[in-house]
This record gives sequence, structure tokens and C-alpha cells, in this order.
Amino acid sequence: MEGFLVRAGGPLSGVVRISGAKNSALKLMAACLLAEGRHVLKNVPEIIDVEIMSEVLSAMGVIVSRTGDHALAIEVPHDLEPEAPYELVERMRASIVVLGPLLGRLGRARVSMPGGDDFGHRPIDMHLRGLTELGAVFESSHGYIEGKAARLQGATVVLEFPSHTATDNLMMAAARAKGTTIIENAAREPEICDLAAFLNAMGARVTGAGTSRVVVEGAEELCATTHEVIPDRVEAATFLAAVGLARGEILLENARSDHMEMLLNKLANMGVVTQSTPEGIAASSDARLSSVDVATLPYPGVATDYKPFLVTMLSVANGVGIVSENLFSDRFRYVDELRRMGADIRKEGHHAVVRGVPVLSGAPVRAPDIRAGAALVLAGLAAEGETFVSGAHHIDRGYECFAEKLQAIGACVTRSATSDPRTSLEAYDDPEPCGLLDPGSGSSAKVGKPRGHSLEGDGL
Ligand code: EPU
Repeated sequence: MEGFLVRAGGPLSGVVRISGAKNSALKLMAACLLAEGRHVLKNVPEIIDVEIMSEVLSAMGVIVSRTGDHALAIEVPHDLEPEAPYELVERMRASIVVLGPLLGRLGRARVSMPGGDDFGHRPIDMHLRGLTELGAVFESSHGYIEGKAARLQGATVVLEFPSHTATDNLMMAAARAKGTTIIENAAREPEICDLAAFLNAMGARVTGAGTSRVVVEGAEELCATTHEVIPDRVEAATFLAAVGLARGEILLENARSDHMEMLLNKLANMGVVTQSTPEGIAASSDARLSSVDVATLPYPGVATDYKPFLVTMLSVANGVGIVSENLFSDRFRYVDELRRMGADIRKEGHHAVVRGVPVLSGAPVRAPDIRAGAALVLAGLAAEGETFVSGAHHIDRGYECFAEKLQAIGACVTRSATSDPRTSLEAYDDPEPCGLLDPGSGSSAKVGKPRGHSLEGDGL
């Protein structure tokens, strides 16, 4: 199994280019189903989840191809096979976002029911209830949900919780429904705004995205279009944590501070200084971090996706921090791995008490999911000795050329099939490029296809 071999390092310096947002690109790819023709998405990250979504679309008869530097051409035929099979949904839970567009355009969809996952119990009841309000009728058999509707009708849907993908599904379904749909208590993430912008470019009329009340006026027809994906705020948060842990001064090219204000405030209290520049976000840190308390909340609160990075930073910060998880029932699994590295963390239900230690101790650990896997790699930057994070395929799902980007800012991280330093560490001095040199990056980070990945998912 491939992993990442990490040695303590820092101070970091240089430029890292932030890729397009995974959690926007996946929804935009699904939204293409709403209109026949050739769509072009730009700034699409080269990650495994995008490959899986391409497979989901291909299984329906769509032709997906890379057309150049991070661009994806998506040709949607007139006739579609409206089914997302078990093998693909099981690998990537986000495949559920094809449900809304299929029902909106064709009035029928058959999608494998996603199960629980590494974050605990993850139901899709709000998706189904919302789509039912729009007139869809669902049946469930043999592990599949089958939805039907002659034509969806606009309605007011009140979400019990501002679920991100339920809001996505409802917006996409409503874009081709008859009449006006109002989504109350909608999710407000920047990726929701990106989806609204894409739908509007296709000819839909979506207003209020970014607020708790999204209004969608359904259209008879939508047309294929071109759109550029927003930068990935979670990837940006990952590199901010890297500079907090290893110290130094870096520029996150393309990152948008207006998409992550709450996190930047939190990081400022911990000692990471950030500044918005025309190129992105400049970040620096030059002393031991200070502890803070953290509670995850839906956007614009501190995202649950940032939490593994914050817990890792608190592990070596000065003082005690209390972390509360308010979105997912079991998103603390990586804590046991951090403990193996000497972190002093006590879990109690959905809270964790983190007492900072001066330094962690390198150890072999296992990545349980995308974000926690990346956080464990970062933990290695603040650990004496070597850390081997196995399960690289989890990280490949959401990060493009993670090791290469970290190397470009001076971190000692190398990808390896083994934790034996005699066979791995030499590779650090002359890393194998993982693809094309990105001409627009201005940095030495390489971008391209992730190497040696497995297509097994962790079901996010
Ligand atoms: N929920 C329900 N019923 C539903 C839907 C959600 O009870 O029908 C609950 C969930 O169980 C959870 C809460 O509502 O307790 C919030 O879940 P949400 O639906 O907002 O999460 P999601 O849309 O499934 C997206 C991201 C996650 C990110 C969360 C929270 C995508 C593909 N995934 O998941 O991203 O953690 O929002 O912001 O957009 C990742 O990128 O690694 C990742 C996990």
C-alpha cells in the first residue's frame, strides 16, 4: 500500500498553487446532465474523485475527456441511462448528486443507496424529502433508490439542517422544474454559489445562493456552457496548517480569503498571520502556536473539513484546546493515530480535549479518509524522526500532487510504497514528477495525474 514518508521540516517558503475545489467540481459535473451538448469545465482538479465522477457520467452515456490544462469537456447526449451503479456510489458517496439533475431533466433516476461511512451514520433523508416536495416519488429495493416524476413542480422546501449536497440536489432538480422553488435553510458554502453561477450560465434563474434562502425559477430548457471552478478552500486550509506547523512564509496562489474568513480568524488567534493579496493568500508563522477552542459549524462557521488540521495544530500548540464536532457523529477517528505520534488528546463524545505537547514523535500511521490523511502527513512535519502515513489512495481522492506541492515549499515529504527509509528517502532529492509542469503556476509544484492510486473510496 502506498503512503507518504515525512520528516520534520521547516521553515517553509515559496509558492503553492491551490487547485479547483473538489466539492464544487463534482457537483458541476453532475449539473451538466441537465443540458444536452458540450460543456467545458476549467480549473478541475486532477484527483481520483473527479475520475470516479467521470465514470459515473460515462456509465450514463456521457463522454468526459480532459482537453488541456485542468479543463474537462463533458458531452451530454440526448438519451441518457439514468442510473448510478453500486460499484461507483460505494467508491464515492458524492455520486448521490446525480439524483437531482436526472429527476429534473428526465423525470427518472436509479441510484445506489449510499451506506454509512468513516464519519458515522450519513443519511440522505433530506435529499429525498426535498425532492418529494417537488413531486418525485421514491421506491427503494435491492439497495437502490428509484425516483420518478412526470415533471417536477416548484415548491417550498424547508431543510431541517443546511445540508450541502441536499441543497445541491434540490437546486439542480429545481432548475428544470415547472415554476418556482424556494429552499429555506439552504447551505451557504461558496461551492453552492459556484453551482448557482454555473446553472445561471446554463440559462437557469437562481437567486439567493450564499444566503439561507435560495430561489430557483425552473426553465424548460438549459444549454451547455463553459465555467471555471472556484479554488479549493479546504486545500488552502491544508497548506495554512502546514505553515503553522512547520513555520515559514508561503503564498497560496489563487486561494480566496473571502471563502474562509472564520478559519483565518481562528488561525490568527493561533499565531498564523495571513494577508489577502491579488495573487491569493500570503501566510506566515514564526513561533510556537497558541491553543484555541474550536466548534465546527455549517458555513460560514469553521468547516468540519478543517478540523483534522486544527486538531493536529493544537497537538503541538501551547496550552489546551477544546474541539467540538457538530456535523458528523464519528469524525474523530484519526485522533488515535495522532496519539500514536505522542499527541495528548482525550475524546469525549463529540468533543476532544487537546493538550499541546512541544513536539510529536514520528510513527507509522494510517490515513482514515481524505482530510485526516492529509492532516497526518502535516503532523509528520512537526514530529521528531520519520512518519509514514499509509493509505495514500485516500489522500489522492481529494489532493492533486500532494507530496510535490509540499516539496515545492520545502517540506520533506515523499511518496513511497514502503516505510523503509533506505528504499524511500533518496527519492526526496529527486522526486519523480507526477505529470505536466503547470504553466500557469509560477511555482515549481508539479501537477498531473496522481500516481499509483487505488480507486477504492472511503465513501465521502
Ligand atoms: N444529513 C442528514 N440527512 C441528509 C443529509 C445530511 O441527516 O439527508 C446530516 C449529515 O449526516 C451531517 C449533516 O447533515 O450530520 C451535514 O451533512 P451535509 O449533507 O452538509 O454533508 P455532505 O453534503 O454529505 C459535504 C462535503 C463534505 C463536507 C460536508 C460538510 C461534498 C461532496 N462533501 O458533505 O466534504 O464535510 O459537506 O461541510 O460536498 C470532503 O471533502 O472530504 C468532505 C467530506
